[in-house]
Amino acid sequence: MRNESLTVVDNRTGKTYQLPIHHGSIHALDLRQMKVSEDDFGLVSYDPALTNTASCESRITFIDGDGGILLYRGYPIEQLAEMSTYLETAYLILRGELPTQAQLKDWKWNITHHTIFHENVKKFMDGFHHDAHPMGMLVSTVGALSTFYPDAKAINDPNSRLKQTYRLIGKMPTLAAFAYRHSLGMPYAYPDNDLSYTGNFLNMLFKMTEVKYQPDPVLERALDVLFILHADHEQNCSTNAMRSVGSSHADPFSATAAATAALYGPLHGGANEEVVKMLAEIGSVSHIPEYMARVKAGEVKLMGFGHRVYKNYDPRARIIKRVAEEVFEVTGRNPLIDVAIELEHIALDDDYFIKRKLYPNVDFYSGIIYQAIGFPLDMFPVLFAIPRTSGWIAQWEEMLLDPEQKIARPRQIYLGHGPRDYAPLDRR
Ligand code: CMC
Repeated sequence: MRNESLTVVDNRTGKTYQLPIHHGSIHALDLRQMKVSEDDFGLVSYDPALTNTASCESRITFIDGDGGILLYRGYPIEQLAEMSTYLETAYLILRGELPTQAQLKDWKWNITHHTIFHENVKKFMDGFHHDAHPMGMLVSTVGALSTFYPDAKAINDPNSRLKQTYRLIGKMPTLAAFAYRHSLGMPYAYPDNDLSYTGNFLNMLFKMTEVKYQPDPVLERALDVLFILHADHEQNCSTNAMRSVGSSHADPFSATAAATAALYGPLHGGANEEVVKMLAEIGSVSHIPEYMARVKAGEVKLMGFGHRVYKNYDPRARIIKRVAEEVFEVTGRNPLIDVAIELEHIALDDDYFIKRKLYPNVDFYSGIIYQAIGFPLDMFPVLFAIPRTSGWIAQWEEMLLDPEQKIARPRQIYLGHGPRDYAPLDRR
């Protein structure tokens, strides 16, 4: 039997401690017994940006960053992208198992019948300026839903949690589509319950004067695959925000607004927007060497490259690259794809990127597809937030049901002034 423990000698005191190791980790609180005196607070671990701290135990998503492996509840992302649908994958992520036929039917029915919201949400939406960023509108309106559904505060009631789950997954596409149409000054298009989740989303976005909108099946499926790929990604910035805000027992609409806000940033969900801007700025294959020189000089980042966890090709990027070709069969080729492919080719052969293990991530090709389908750049992070909602809710619920979890409250290393006396204004 291996001895699953860590022996630590505190050289300040000469004392030796045995710390148990569980699942390859030590418990940070075990450090607190290491003190230099009775009134010492005890040792804490310092980990800015939580790069080497597990904040929870989870059974939802597994990533092997070196191997380029992503599993939802044990199922490889490649198999789900090939054979599943977004709604089935959302069920899997939330419930832990693939649904039976009856369970899937019931799941789809409930989500489809929670796509409409109170008409006052439209009035709220109308208050935004015509050029408001749709992600800003999404953050605000999903937060506002908490005022429309005060029953969501009953976070300890499993029936209430399920109802909010239907509402959140059902209404996110509607909020997103209404935000999009608001920015164009177009009348809102209401959900069509005959269509699939992504088919209906395309309907609410792009329906014009036709009586019934028919989504292109290739684009509908491509969007569904992209939604599967974005459904969860374990403890990233937005999921951490969801868990952290949820840990104060805020309702799930407020916590989802916080997670959506975290996703808004260009280093997270905003990266695919930045990728397309970057590819457009490069403009053509012949300008790539010049741009690469700027990247290596540290002037700019190669957006869509690098990942905190993947130190290998992001498995989602590989699938998206294939989907791109299918989409172009319908929409025509987006010329930026040629710049992207050549950029990837050069980067993967370049010492700067090899040494730092920088590979294309999920955002490198997704923006090119979204642009080909007809989405404006500022809708890209919104297209990330819609499918990630199922992952956020699963992580939120797992956190609530975990007896070890409490309100999130990190420590700090205080390096500021010691106590000093207040000086009145006339003596400063
Ligand atoms: N282009 C050029 N250099 C890079 C890049 C990049 N995209 N990413 C990292 N580096 C360099 C970085 O400068 C550093 O170099 P050095 O050691 O010389 O200082 C080294 O690689 C390590 O980078 P880091 O910043 O310590 O890595 P990180 O784990 O903190 O950052 C990241 C991860 C995703 C924020 C970063 O790679 C990045 O900014 N990438 C571009 C933005 C992007 O594509 N984001 C989408 C992430 S995937 C979607 C999601 O899950 O949200």
